[in-house]
Amino acid sequence: MHATFGYLAVAATLLRAVHSQNLSATGLSTVTSRLAEGAQKSWELGTRAEALLELYVPNFSVFSSTGLPPPASVPSNTTTAIAPVFSIAHNVVSALKNTTGPQPLIAGDGAAGDPASIGVAVLLANWTGLGAADGLNYSAAAQDQLDYLLNVVPHTSDGAISHRVAQVQLWSDSVYMVPPFLAYYGVLTGNTTLITEAYNQISLYRKYLRDTSANNLWKHIVLGNDTSDTPNDSGHWSTGNGWAAAGMLRVIATMKNSPYSKSFSSQQSDLASWVKEIHTAMFANIDSTNIFTNYADQPINTTGMFYDTASTTLIASTVYQAALLVNDHSHLPNAEKCRQALYASGTSGSSSSSPSSSPSSSSLSSSSPSPASTTSPAASASATIAPLTDFVHFTSDGWLTPVVNPDSFGVQGQNSPEGEAFVLEFQAAYSQWVAGGSVGASAARRTAASATGWAWVVGCTVFGTLLAVA
Ligand SMILES: *[C@@H]1O[C@H](CO)[C@@H](O)[C@H](O)[C@H]1NC(C)=O
Ligand SMILES: *[C@@H]1O[C@H](CO)[C@@H](O)[C@H](O)[C@H]1NC(C)=O
Ligand SMILES: *[C@@H]1O[C@H](CO)[C@@H](O)[C@H](O)[C@H]1NC(C)=O
Ligand SMILES: *[C@@H]1O[C@H](CO)[C@@H](O)[C@H](O)[C@H]1NC(C)=O
Ligand SMILES: *[C@@H]1O[C@H](CO)[C@@H](O)[C@H](O)[C@H]1NC(C)=O
Ligand SMILES: *[C@@H]1O[C@H](CO)[C@@H](O)[C@H](O)[C@H]1NC(C)=O
Ligand SMILES: *[C@@H]1O[C@H](CO)[C@@H](O)[C@H](O)[C@H]1NC(C)=O
Ligand SMILES: *[C@@H]1O[C@H](CO)[C@@H](O)[C@H](O)[C@H]1NC(C)=O
Ligand SMILES: *[C@@H]1O[C@H](CO)[C@@H](O)[C@H](O)[C@H]1NC(C)=O
Ligand SMILES: *[C@@H]1O[C@H](CO)[C@@H](O)[C@H](O)[C@H]1NC(C)=O
Repeated sequence: MHATFGYLAVAATLLRAVHSQNLSATGLSTVTSRLAEGAQKSWELGTRAEALLELYVPNFSVFSSTGLPPPASVPSNTTTAIAPVFSIAHNVVSALKNTTGPQPLIAGDGAAGDPASIGVAVLLANWTGLGAADGLNYSAAAQDQLDYLLNVVPHTSDGAISHRVAQVQLWSDSVYMVPPFLAYYGVLTGNTTLITEAYNQISLYRKYLRDTSANNLWKHIVLGNDTSDTPNDSGHWSTGNGWAAAGMLRVIATMKNSPYSKSFSSQQSDLASWVKEIHTAMFANIDSTNIFTNYADQPINTTGMFYDTASTTLIASTVYQAALLVNDHSHLPNAEKCRQALYASGTSGSSSSSPSSSPSSSSLSSSSPSPASTTSPAASASATIAPLTDFVHFTSDGWLTPVVNPDSFGVQGQNSPEGEAFVLEFQAAYSQWVAGGSVGASAARRTAASATGWAWVVGCTVFGTLLAVA
């Protein structure tokens, strides 16, 4: 009897340890549903499409080891997984009013860069022949988006494509939205000039945004003087550093897995070093919670500052991607600590169903003003499906928390669709890294032996002892 109770207690400890490292398949599908409900804006649609490909349709993602270009037809057992990606492309292209000529994929967006993020899904729809089935000309839509970026959107004098339509202004976000589209376009059409252009754009953005007086963190926004169009933000926005690193890694993957890899080897190594530069700059600032603040170099006690799990998830995902793609293992110890913090057991202390009433047990609650509610009726209505219980950093209905408001980068928000996409991208990279043998983890274990890690070691030892006794 005692042995049985002991066994159960240890098993519970083990389950807790397992739980704290990963989301279950149902947990992931809850996050995937929240993403589907929440993603409405141009960049959210593009980011959602990318995240779905990376996690659920890996053979059609640029990270695929099966190579680029992707298969020209979708296998029958993959049509369900790819359907939401094609829906995004279909809905966007069918909404275009102008049939030809330079135009963005979403009309009327003040951002020049964001609509281009959907371009990869549109190019993939064209490549796999979706147009033959639904009558839409995806190739023309992609070309119009390309021509719009290259020939209509304002550029700096040295050629950086503005992130805004109304004025020349560069945002770190743009590195995720534009260069991956240019590189993918180049690979699918055999146009190496466009692959080079993807690299050139990143190089230019780095020239303007990298802040050598801040240990190489990237600024969020530079140039532009029209504050009626956009606010200034010279701060080192954590999500922006993540967008930049993640965009660079997608371009590396696009080059590396294409037939042109050899001719772009020096560009790949430059990009890899620039990703590492961001990782080094970011992790130098993280505090003992292992969650980034909204502006990485501003401590949590700065007025208005709060912790942001969205950027933390994105940055951590890029560390696993860098390990897989370019064998850079240097920041795995940091990413492993982030992972343990992001998936820690506990109560989130906030739920989008009951925003402010329950007391918070999160160690990350800050004195920030309470976030504006962005709960959609749809999100609340389906909140009972596969609740995520016992997570500090996920609400029971599956939203990452706490997060920056995706529509207002300086303030805390409630539901972040892009954050949900980052969770899927994280899982795609992390589980592939684990499947490949967790290469580089030994260094991580040495330096990141957290309470959870010790619980594992102790739990496993006791469990093993009990088995031996039984
Ligand atoms: C990806 O493609 C490879 C090669 O065609 C195939 O063997 C594998 O089953 C595919 N994977 C999935 C998940 O469909
Ligand atoms: C599709 O079928 C192939 C075998 O033809 C298999 O290897 C692959 O895993 C399947 N893909 C999915 C997504 O089930
Ligand atoms: C179509 O193109 C014209 C001319 O470029 C432009 O004025 C108009 O806003 C565009 N319409 C849409 C829906 O994009
Ligand atoms: C669209 O796909 C066809 C192949 O089906 C390809 O020849 C064409 O270049 C593609 N267009 C773009 C813009 O990728
Ligand atoms: C799509 O539009 C392009 C012009 O961009 C044209 O050359 C091509 O024939 C069109 N394809 C179809 C299937 O209509
Ligand atoms: C590559 O794309 C650019 C931009 O659309 C175009 O100007 C150029 O002619 C293309 N090059 C080739 C070889 O098709
Ligand atoms: C925004 O930045 C521009 C250029 O750096 C500067 O001229 C302007 O005064 C700034 N505006 C605000 C509101 O900070
Ligand atoms: C912004 O600067 C441009 C020149 O660089 C000038 O033409 C324009 O009037 C300025 N706009 C504002 C709002 O200051
Ligand atoms: C904020 O915390 C840091 C330690 O992280 C401390 O050095 C600093 O004095 C604090 N600042 C304020 C205003 O409390
Ligand atoms: C994450 O959890 C799922 C389900 O519990 C499991 O199938 C998967 O192998 C785990 N992945 C990793 C990388 O631990």
